[in-house]
This record gives sequence, structure tokens and C-alpha cells, in this order.
Amino acid sequence: MSPKDRYKKEAARAALAEVPKGCWLGVGTGTTTNYFIQLLPKRWVKGAVASSEATAKALRRRGIRVVPMIPTRKLAVYVDGADAADARLRLIKGGGGALTREKIVATASRKFVCIADGSKLVKRLGRFPVPLEVVPIAREQVAAAVRKIGGRPVWRKRFITDN
Ligand code: A5P
Repeated sequence: MSPKDRYKKEAARAALAEVPKGCWLGVGTGTTTNYFIQLLPKRWVKGAVASSEATAKALRRRGIRVVPMIPTRKLAVYVDGADAADARLRLIKGGGGALTREKIVATASRKFVCIADGSKLVKRLGRFPVPLEVVPIAREQVAAAVRKIGGRPVWRKRFITDN
């Protein structure tokens, strides 16, 4: 295992302490989150809402019940990685492509625990591009709006989100 992966795993392990036994949990997407899923004890949570199909699959493989998001199901914690973070803990997220769902699950959770290794820490956010999810019909319209505020939109070709 590379040092970077070891750090990801350690970050994932630290998040376990934030997950109360018997709660409903929100789980994000990415390599760091995958370590978290591997480390999560099987019967620790009642079940989990996944931010992507890939995460739902990984949770089921681990023997954790995957449940849909309903208003009466209060999620105690949402655990997810990040693409970049600054010293004020502002984040760039969504590089894995689960960006819309992850915001929805995070919003439905009481607490957001972000797990990231030191390589994600930057002085200034911006090197990692801000991911945006668009429905195909809106692509040019969104691109024009991004240009208008000084951005340079790049279409991530052949990438389709779960939505
Ligand atoms: C998912 O869309 C992203 O926000 C991920 O949380 C982010 O890309 C982190 O991924 P890694 O843990 O693989 O670095």
C-alpha cells in the first residue's frame, strides 16, 4: 500500500469514532470513502444512504443495508472525501462525479465528516477544477453562465453521472 493510501485509510479510520452505533449513515464516494466502508463494522449502523451506485455496491458487498433517503430517516452523519481543502476547511468536492447526490445526502445529515489525506490540503483552492453536474440540454447554457463569471468550462467528455 502506498503512503498516500495509508493516509487515506488512517483518515477513514478516524471517522469511525464519529459514527454512533445504531444510527442511519450517509456515505459518499471515492477511494478514501471506500476505505471507510471496508473499516465500518458490519452491524454498527442500521443502514446507509449512498451518494452513488458505486458506493451502494461497496456497502452491500460489505454486508451493510442500503436504504433510500426518506424525510423521516434522520441521518446522524455523512462521511465523504474531498478533492481539495484549504486551511479554513473549505472544500472542492465532486471530482468522482457524485456531486449532486452527495450534496443532497450531506444536507439531510446532522453532521458532515470529511475524510482527506494531507495531499488534499492546499493554500488556495482552485487548482482542482470545480466540478459541475449538468443535464445535457443545459450544457451550453451552463457553460455560458460559467464564462460570464470568469470561469473556463471544460466538458468532461464520455462521463455520465448516476443521474
Ligand atoms: C465524489 O464525487 C468526490 O467528492 C470524492 O469525495 C472526492 O473525489 C474524493 O475522492 P478520493 O477519496 O478518491 O480522493
